[in-house]
Amino acid sequence: MAETEKAPFLPKVEPDKKAHVGHAVAILSGKGGVGKSFTSSYLAVLLRRMGYKVGILDADVTGPSIPYAFNVKGPVVGDGTLFFPVKSKTGIEIMSSNLLLNHPDEPIVWRGPMLSTLLEQFYTQVLWDVDYLLIDMPPGTADVSLTIFQKIPLSSAIVVSTPQSLVDLIVEKSAKMAELLSVPLLSLVENMSYILCPNCKMRIDIHGKVNYDIASKHGIPVVDEVPFDVDITKYMDEGKIEDLEFEYLKATAKAIVDVSKDSESLK
Ligand SMILES: Nc1ncnc2c1ncn2[C@@H]1O[C@H](COP(=O)(O)OP(=O)(O)OP(=O)(O)O)[C@@H](O)[C@H]1O
Ligand SMILES: [Mg+2]
Repeated sequence: MAETEKAPFLPKVEPDKKAHVGHAVAILSGKGGVGKSFTSSYLAVLLRRMGYKVGILDADVTGPSIPYAFNVKGPVVGDGTLFFPVKSKTGIEIMSSNLLLNHPDEPIVWRGPMLSTLLEQFYTQVLWDVDYLLIDMPPGTADVSLTIFQKIPLSSAIVVSTPQSLVDLIVEKSAKMAELLSVPLLSLVENMSYILCPNCKMRIDIHGKVNYDIASKHGIPVVDEVPFDVDITKYMDEGKIEDLEFEYLKATAKAIVDVSKDSESLK
């Protein structure tokens, strides 16, 4: 497809010539607190375990939780031109606004255009060396998210939701944005969709049955269900996400790899 058809509004930006970004994948949701950062973190862990070089661009400037999940600290250093991403214990490259601050508990009180510029620089002025760059998007489909969608050449996107009544609307908006900007939406992650009884392992659908129709309506090939699991909160909060091992999200990780193999081969 011609570049102009892919980028109807703004020209795409590129990583620095010294950097390498194989495929950028956006993790998005129309809503906050549904598990985007967990999904981004654990997908990075899974892709790393599959042997790929992986990075996470934490684009959620208001709630940058990625450095905490991986227990990495700043401040980030650079060579005057490029920033070096911080590496986690298994070698996952991380860039986050929190790693730029001397006091990570201070808020970043910037307006939209400045945030967009910062996030663009996280793509163009960081010495990434990754096969997959997962972008943990801020909640919503407006402003900053839209700019990322328009400017960063994305190979695919994943939408995260919880199975409540607004899910259709949230997925609908994300799907429309992805369609508009010609980015394939690979997977709907239905997070916290059920619990397993710790004694009898019976599945309890806390929000009622998951509605798969919305995924098929938009041609989203994978629906990945993740239960509410206290281990997730624990490992995320303790900065040990790389030690967590379970089966969830493997179908989504596989879909990311499969679609990138279908498109151009890794640069
Ligand atoms: N399946 C799950 N089971 C239990 N806890 C979870 C699950 N998914 C996420 N959590 C926890 O719920 C909280 C919110 O998740 P997370 O930070 O990933 O959401 P988010 O969509 O990135 O939120 P925000 O919009 O604030 O960035 C975190 O404490 C996380 O550890
Ligand atoms: Mg988050």
